[in-house]
Amino acid sequence: MEDSSAAIHPDKTQMATVGANMRNIGKVSSFSKVSDYVYRVDAQNANIALSFVSDDIVRIKIFFTSEFDLKTTAGVLPQRTAPTQLNVNETEESIIIRTATMQVVMAKENFTLEVQDLEGGKFYSQNNVIWDNRGAVTAFNSMDSEAHFYGLGEKTSFLDKRGERYEMWNSDIFAPHVPEIEALYESIPFLLHYNRGNVYGLFLDNPGKTTFDMRTHADMYTVKADTGSMDYYIINGPQLKDVVKRYTDLTGRMSIPPKWSIGYHQSRYSYMSQEEVMDLARTFREKNIPCDVIYLDIHYMDEYRVFTFDKTRFPNPQQMMKDLREMGIRIVPIVDPGVKQDPRYPIYQEGIANDYFCKKIEGDLFIGPVWPGQSAFPDFTEDEVGRWWADKHRFYTDMGIQGVWNDMNEPAVFVESKTMDLDVVHRNNGDMKTHEELHNLYGMLMSKATYEGLREQLAGDRPFVLTRAGYSGVQRYAAVWTGDNRSFWEHMAMAMPMCLNLGLSGIPFTGPDIGGFAHHTTADLLTRWTQMGVFFPYCRNHSVLDSVRQEPWSFGPEVETVLREYIGLRYKLMPLLYNLFYEASQTGMPVMRPLLLEYPHDKNVFNLSDQFLFGSDMLIAPIIRPDTDHRSVYLPEGVWYDYWTGEKFTGGKHILAYAPMHVMPIYVKAGSVIPEQSLQQYADQPTDGVLRLNVYGVGAEASYRHELYEDDGRTFAYEQGAYNLVRLNMEEGAAEAAISYEYAHKGYESEHRTWLVRFKFAAFQPTAVEGLEQLSVSQIGAADAGWAFDEAAGELLVKFAPNAAGGTLRIRG
Ligand code: GLC
Repeated sequence: MEDSSAAIHPDKTQMATVGANMRNIGKVSSFSKVSDYVYRVDAQNANIALSFVSDDIVRIKIFFTSEFDLKTTAGVLPQRTAPTQLNVNETEESIIIRTATMQVVMAKENFTLEVQDLEGGKFYSQNNVIWDNRGAVTAFNSMDSEAHFYGLGEKTSFLDKRGERYEMWNSDIFAPHVPEIEALYESIPFLLHYNRGNVYGLFLDNPGKTTFDMRTHADMYTVKADTGSMDYYIINGPQLKDVVKRYTDLTGRMSIPPKWSIGYHQSRYSYMSQEEVMDLARTFREKNIPCDVIYLDIHYMDEYRVFTFDKTRFPNPQQMMKDLREMGIRIVPIVDPGVKQDPRYPIYQEGIANDYFCKKIEGDLFIGPVWPGQSAFPDFTEDEVGRWWADKHRFYTDMGIQGVWNDMNEPAVFVESKTMDLDVVHRNNGDMKTHEELHNLYGMLMSKATYEGLREQLAGDRPFVLTRAGYSGVQRYAAVWTGDNRSFWEHMAMAMPMCLNLGLSGIPFTGPDIGGFAHHTTADLLTRWTQMGVFFPYCRNHSVLDSVRQEPWSFGPEVETVLREYIGLRYKLMPLLYNLFYEASQTGMPVMRPLLLEYPHDKNVFNLSDQFLFGSDMLIAPIIRPDTDHRSVYLPEGVWYDYWTGEKFTGGKHILAYAPMHVMPIYVKAGSVIPEQSLQQYADQPTDGVLRLNVYGVGAEASYRHELYEDDGRTFAYEQGAYNLVRLNMEEGAAEAAISYEYAHKGYESEHRTWLVRFKFAAFQPTAVEGLEQLSVSQIGAADAGWAFDEAAGELLVKFAPNAAGGTLRIRG
């Protein structure tokens, strides 16, 4: 019916008119302090709890009954912060609660709430909250004519969400992902409101169906929850970076991933046999195309029973894992939540015997069809069930598997509603709730169980979990890929704003199926998509059953050459990429960034959706159309260098980039340091031991700073101090320069025993580098130490072994 004209039947819209029985909060009757940082407002029709998580985060929870329950969902971490100060001022008309940085102002007459800076500049203002007699509640919030919106996780359309409306309801959508699709696999009910350079965040901690509508009203946006409570956090800025950091204080950050998980990954639905997998691995190695991971999609299993192998297709998985590991390749198998209803299948037996599966309130099992046929679904809201599931992963980890791919965990069910019955009741550790209320948590809780199981079983090695579904906080457990896209140029383009907003929503480790999952890729599309994809945090090529093959060599030697070079570039840039993941683990800053994050006052970037930053200093401008070898690129303020040619540009304007098939335009900001290393075929492969620090000169007096993080890339030893944090500082004057470095922390023996600093576009020609011998440019590669000046390129090369005590190298002109 939805595909016919019945979808636009007039009754549909008429039915949506608001009934007369809506209520709102009404007049405030009393105000009291509940505990140190918690206040209570009682009003005519509802009560409100105000909890101050820190000076910059206030939680507002509205209760329609007498309950006063301050539990959060699993999305929010137990908080260890508190506001440094709180002052309360209550008058006849209003209540004002002031922290060190902001104030919450509530009007008593007909309850409204504003969050302001200390000068009274309001940044958030809630004008009304209404609800119907079934408890669906909507908050109306002011929207300035200059406002822009970001965040909201995995959504279609462009970067700026103004004029859009989205639902949060984890959905398995195989139909093409088009701008009007309001819900995909992930639900991150976190909105960033940007107004003339000031940003605040609104996080609605409700895992039921919620709606963010920035379309319907001219001067307001609404936030609606169909079930559960209106429990939301206002997060102060004023900078976008402040809000992202604070949101990830609240919902957590990913820990540093194993390096192999940020290499290149190859997948297909499905590599059908042990032989096919081994052939694939050998082909990567023969062709010198770097690769760290091969995925096993559902065909590896015995009739899609999770925690099994099909004995005909994969007669000896242990041996396969061992042989692959010797080649530097790991296997990541898919694990779906549906457990086949089969009385002879041990996992099903155990789940039944222990009462681990989801049920209706009357006690009937919920059974629904997925790949294995009729299946039961573990109730991950119970910790005990999570532990059971976690433990089952020994089946994989005993074979040497260190990564698991969680799919179908919305949960997807092959029925009209696409998911589990809404009246399933989750036991939720004693706080029973319906599936309707907890739907969006299911996938994240599955990944949590998976992550925790692997973490326990891997004896100190870092696990990798990939998930399709998730909720706020999923970044603590898993990377996210954006599901079943298609081999459309439009989907390649859409991956940018989608992953950029995921990054702003606290999830830094994301990427689409490179080349496109469904439909059929082409030589050009695969080339352009791979060029772009190697700069995404998560980098996997994956395609559906009957599509044309899209391994890097599938379109002949010319395409293969280009793909080899770009995949290799990701490995050369591994020190930078790894550094960015370290930063994400510390501050929540995304790895791929919208230009807005670094240039928040530049109106040219408010909705810039077809280029992005890799970290803060590398600008990536993919070609997103067929038969196209030019594109317009916006370079923000400052000086930029073409990564390939060294050509210099002054920013603050658009340029026309020339990009034949083997070139994707990349620019580097003058003043930055980009670390690189020698090419590897997989992330754990030893390099030549030289860390290349490319300094992009400003060409006049300048200083360059860089913080470099290093550890073994594989274990949790860094938690015990086995890491290095090096601060580099380079000063360049008119006729002298200095390279200084110090170890803020030194706890790891780096494989990069030598550093090669390359001052690109040096401001002067040096005559001496103190303590180092002058060599010719051609000698420097083989030497352990020395310096050279490349006159043709205007580059100064300085090679030396860094000293644990730090040091300074003086350069004279
Ligand atoms: C889903 C996944 C896809 C996978 C397929 C078979 O469609 O999104 O990536 O290949 O299931 O497991």
